[in-house]
Amino acid sequence: MKFFLDTANLAEIKEVAGWGILDGVTTNPSLCAKENMAFEDLVKEICRYCPGPVSVECVSARAAEIVPEARKLAALSSNIAVKIPIGLEGLKATRVLSQEGIMINTTLIFSPSQALLAAKAGSRFVSPFIGRLDDISQEGMEVIEQILAIFDNYSFETEVIVASIRHPRHVVDAALLGAHIATIPYSVIDKLVKHPLTDIGIEKFLKDWGKVKK
Ligand code: E4P
Repeated sequence: MKFFLDTANLAEIKEVAGWGILDGVTTNPSLCAKENMAFEDLVKEICRYCPGPVSVECVSARAAEIVPEARKLAALSSNIAVKIPIGLEGLKATRVLSQEGIMINTTLIFSPSQALLAAKAGSRFVSPFIGRLDDISQEGMEVIEQILAIFDNYSFETEVIVASIRHPRHVVDAALLGAHIATIPYSVIDKLVKHPLTDIGIEKFLKDWGKVKK
C-alpha cells in the first residue's frame, strides 16, 4: 500500500519524507489556504521534497477552462497529478488531459458509479472521501470495497486513493481491502506507529539491560 500525506505543510512533508515511507502528497484548496506562501511557490517546494505524485486541485468549472488550468498546473513539475472534481465537465476535461499524458486525480468521489466514470475517462487516480461519508452516517469503507471490485472486474489501471482518513482504523481497513493508496493526515500517520505496550516493553528492557553483567 502506498502512503500519501494529505497536507500542504512543508515541515510535515519533509519530516515524513525523512521516515522513508512517503510515496506522494495530496493537497486541496482548503489545505493550501492554511499555508502562508504563494500558491505556485508552495506547489514547487512540495514537489521538490516529495518523491512521488503531488496532487494539486483545479478550481475551474467548465471543461474549456479546466483544460488550460490543468496544463498550467502540470507544467509546474513532472510529478504533478491534477485534481479535478467529478462531474460531466470534469470528465470531458479528463479525457483530453489524460490523452496528453497528464495524471488526473478525480476528487470528491462519494459513489462507485462516480469512480467508474472517472476510470473510463482515463483518470490515473480516484479519491473517494470516506471520512465525509462516515460523518453523514454512511459506510465510507463500503464504497472503497465496491470501487475496488469494479476496477478489478474490468482490469482498470486507475488507482484508488482512500481519502478523508480520520484515524488509524481507516488505514488498516483500507489495507485489508487491498486499496492501492491511503492519503493520510500527519496526525494519523503519527498515531499509526504508536502502541502503549511498545512503550512499556522498551522501558522494561532498558531497566533490565541495566542489570545485565557487562
Ligand atoms: C484528499 O485528497 C483530500 O484532500 C482530503 O482527504 C479531504 O479530507 P477531509 O474530509 O478531512 O477534508
